[in-house]
Amino acid sequence: MRLNNQHLLITGGAQGIGEAIVINAAKEGARVSFVDIDDDLSNALVKSLVDQGYQVQFQHGDVSKFETFKVAFDKLTATYGPVTVAVSNAGRNSYADPVEYADEEWESFFALDLKSTWYIAKLCLPEMRKAHKGAIVNIASIHGRMTSPNFFPYSAAKHGIVGMTRNLALDEAKNGIRVNSVSPGYTLTPLLKGYFEQFPEAAANAVAVQPMGRVGLPEEIAKVVTFVLSDEASFINGADLMVDGGLHARYAS
Ligand SMILES: NC(=O)c1ccc[n+]([C@@H]2O[C@H](COP(=O)([O-])OP(=O)(O)OC[C@H]3O[C@@H](n4cnc5c(N)ncnc54)[C@H](O)[C@@H]3O)[C@@H](O)[C@H]2O)c1
Repeated sequence: MRLNNQHLLITGGAQGIGEAIVINAAKEGARVSFVDIDDDLSNALVKSLVDQGYQVQFQHGDVSKFETFKVAFDKLTATYGPVTVAVSNAGRNSYADPVEYADEEWESFFALDLKSTWYIAKLCLPEMRKAHKGAIVNIASIHGRMTSPNFFPYSAAKHGIVGMTRNLALDEAKNGIRVNSVSPGYTLTPLLKGYFEQFPEAAANAVAVQPMGRVGLPEEIAKVVTFVLSDEASFINGADLMVDGGLHARYAS
């Protein structure tokens, strides 16, 4: 029970990596709150976990908009108390042409893929500082260190998350709060399935380049996130943990 007595807040918990984190954290003893825009998936997940005796709640909210996020946050903390551990997970891919890309598209993309990571810290840090204890994990990506063609400007947002994580880690350590990022490689979620549908040639290649001969599973990311949030990782701070089956170690040949 690595997260006993913890209240975990996560963005984008309805499916994919977020859903796996919700499930793993609940099984590790946490009270889990999540914010998502997909009501049907979220309600189904909450029902299934509550039916099994776990403490999980959801509020609808677009985490790329601070006021909307805060309304959901206030409701979730009113029932489960202050957030003690948090995960910034919600994000989407981008395959834009830098010439065609519109200003509004840039604003909306970075509001989700970068700014919401600041928002969750902004909301959770006050109570963590008061408690002089807390841990935050930001889900970045292998694209936070390198990238592949046709992903503009996804890699810029993920590099931003890794950088923001370092800023927060250095500044909050004196407050007893650890901040790290976890960077998945290819992970089998609805997001990745959508990418493979849009670019079928990428699917075969994505497996062919894997040192371990397969892509990752959401549960394999979730277990690392739970560990990093827990006291077992008490001296891990400002790190970016790659969970990619060794893909980033590979020279392109
Ligand atoms: N799947 C991969 O291969 C992979 C690899 C590296 C990094 N990542 C990162 O992991 C994170 C999760 O990815 P995933 O593959 O599970 O994605 P996913 O699309 O399968 O799930 C994303 C979840 O976020 C929610 N969401 C989307 N926009 C939101 C918003 N504005 N407000 C609140 N919730 C919102 C969705 O409803 C969904 O439940 C993302 O940050 C992604 O960039 C994924």
